[in-house]
Amino acid sequence: MSYPITRMRRLRGSERLRQMLRETRLSRDELILPLFVVEGSGVREPVVSMPGVFRYSVDKVAEEVKRVRDAGIHAVILFGIPDAKDARGSGADAADGIVQRAVEAIKASEPDLCVMTDVCLCEYTDHGHCGIIANQDVDNDPSVERLALTALSHARAGADIVAPSDMMDGRVAAIRAALDGNDFPNVAILSYAAKFASAFYGPFRDAAESTPQFGDRRSYQMDPPNRREAMREMRLDLEEGADALMVKPALPYLDLLADARREFDLPLAAYQVSGEYAMIKAAAERDWIDGERAMDEALIAIKRAGANWIVTYAAVEVAGRLKP
Ligand code: PBG
Repeated sequence: MSYPITRMRRLRGSERLRQMLRETRLSRDELILPLFVVEGSGVREPVVSMPGVFRYSVDKVAEEVKRVRDAGIHAVILFGIPDAKDARGSGADAADGIVQRAVEAIKASEPDLCVMTDVCLCEYTDHGHCGIIANQDVDNDPSVERLALTALSHARAGADIVAPSDMMDGRVAAIRAALDGNDFPNVAILSYAAKFASAFYGPFRDAAESTPQFGDRRSYQMDPPNRREAMREMRLDLEEGADALMVKPALPYLDLLADARREFDLPLAAYQVSGEYAMIKAAAERDWIDGERAMDEALIAIKRAGANWIVTYAAVEVAGRLKP
């Protein structure tokens, strides 16, 4: 039956009907807020390229999570920015490292907040790469060892979920073995499985001071045009023992998210990265778009494509607009 009998607009005519027919809804339960933690105390400094995002010292981040909980957000993912960096990223797995102390402080202040940690070396290495360097390139296997120790140190500090974002081969299996071998069988792994060498990470690298000092990340992060390869990456991480898979960035890679949703039964996460966030904020500042509507639309698109979890810098802001 088609027009004039069928009229699609019939069910679109009022907000009441639109609300009754909405196929996808965003919920606070599935939003994850990234938090940047720096050394010092009493620090709450704005990240210029990401309006609304701050870098907190450990004492302040423990306060901030109360506000996060009050907003109805139940999960955060932590990024540490240490003062001292070296070639092997020693700060990454230090028992008294920045992330480890932040996890402890957050768990002391909000015990049932789900605390995830980003597992990577790039914030801790003086060269800014995500692993150990040999011959001007990141050396996979020694890097994996460091990453496994880093994940283990996060678990010891009390992290619920560790999220490796380095894109080394074999790191999920190595992290699983390190956790299981040290009595952390219940710490889950959210793998940044399909992570692309993206221009959209620009603002993050300012916030995390993790820009590579030479070269780029294209020998380990994925090439943006590749879809079949992304499926292989996700399948491998699943086989290595990942509990959940992440696609990153989110909006430019919705096709992969939809493919992954069809292919895998695991929980899927999508990371609305710094550049995706910053573009919306920047255009809204100029009154070129309605920032709130654009943010909500981007997030619902990510959900519609198949994400269970959405990592977004807008989690608290958006939570304020959602029904409890
Ligand atoms: C660290 C890491 C990055 C992001 C998350 N984890 C940066 C990168 O790979 O260069 C990007 C997040 C964002 O842009 O919001 N390896």
